[in-house]
Amino acid sequence: MVSAVETSGLTKIYRLDLLSGGKRIVALDGLSLKIEAGHVLGVVGPNGAGKSTAIKLLLDLIRPTSGTALIFGKPPHEAAARRDVGYLPENPAPYEYLTGAEFVRLAAELSGLRGAERNRRVDEVLGQVQMGNFASVQIRRYSKGMVQRIALAQALVARPRLLILDEPTSGLDVLGRKLIREIVLTEKARGTSILLCSHIIPDVEALSEDIAILIGGKLVKAGPVTELLSHEGSEVELSFEGLGQAQVEGWPFTIVTAGRRLVGRCAASEAKALINRAHDLGATLVSMHPIRQTLEDTFLAAVKAQGQQVGSVIE
Ligand SMILES: Nc1ncnc2c1ncn2[C@@H]1O[C@H](COP(=O)(O)OP(=O)(O)OP(=O)(O)O)[C@@H](O)[C@H]1O
Ligand SMILES: [Mg+2]
Repeated sequence: MVSAVETSGLTKIYRLDLLSGGKRIVALDGLSLKIEAGHVLGVVGPNGAGKSTAIKLLLDLIRPTSGTALIFGKPPHEAAARRDVGYLPENPAPYEYLTGAEFVRLAAELSGLRGAERNRRVDEVLGQVQMGNFASVQIRRYSKGMVQRIALAQALVARPRLLILDEPTSGLDVLGRKLIREIVLTEKARGTSILLCSHIIPDVEALSEDIAILIGGKLVKAGPVTELLSHEGSEVELSFEGLGQAQVEGWPFTIVTAGRRLVGRCAASEAKALINRAHDLGATLVSMHPIRQTLEDTFLAAVKAQGQQVGSVIE
């Protein structure tokens, strides 16, 4: 089956004007990755890592300096490739003098929907983003989160085969964030391929089967979540009652909290011996569970290893 997205050596170098010193910014440096059809790829990276640049290249909003991109096997400059894509930009700027419903209807028409089918879809997506009540209000009267919701409705209206979400939770409240998670899951269940760029790392971890970590324009890690976070189980967290901090001094046990219960971490291989020692001191083991490495741990470690936090290489 053809991949939803396939890029090879995709590179974008922005040239700054003389006023800005005539320098070059290497925003994306040889990106090669794939999104298999029906998969959710989560892309994480610090500010200025090149995430939005990669997305804009996929949508032919900007042209690559070198390298190629394909959407379901077609280059982005072909309208037929872009017709398959629903896009939520990081800073949506819908026509402010249209109402929400008019704007979503316009998006539906531009995607080729007509008549009753168009009207049905417009109502459906306005309901999905919970903007039914504000559908006939001009967008210039919307709050930031409302604009985000209407832009999301626009991205969904034509039932795209590939959904590209650039910071979908930006400006949204807790309910909005939950809504995004539900929409991603619903779309995933329909078989939509999704590229999800977000700084909310726990959401990316929960929703994606594949992850890409971009730092300074370079892809530093990519693969299935299950492989990237495979250190699961090498450490455990133990919680004891009846054990004091002083009693465990010198044990291979890193204390996490020392309240009524003493909670700490140790290597899984040490757990049995520690539990026996605590038991001999009259303590009770209250809980024991494996410590899961999170995407956040992996991300922070990658940023540290790269030694770069914000932006890309300026030459
Ligand atoms: N139009 C432009 N002209 C010059 N440089 C640009 C332009 N757009 C982006 N850049 C540079 O390209 C690099 C990547 O920017 P990009 O917007 O792709 O980052 P990002 O990963 O989406 O960051 P964020 O998390 O802040 O949205 C940055 O160093 C930025 O300064
Ligand atoms: Mg961005």
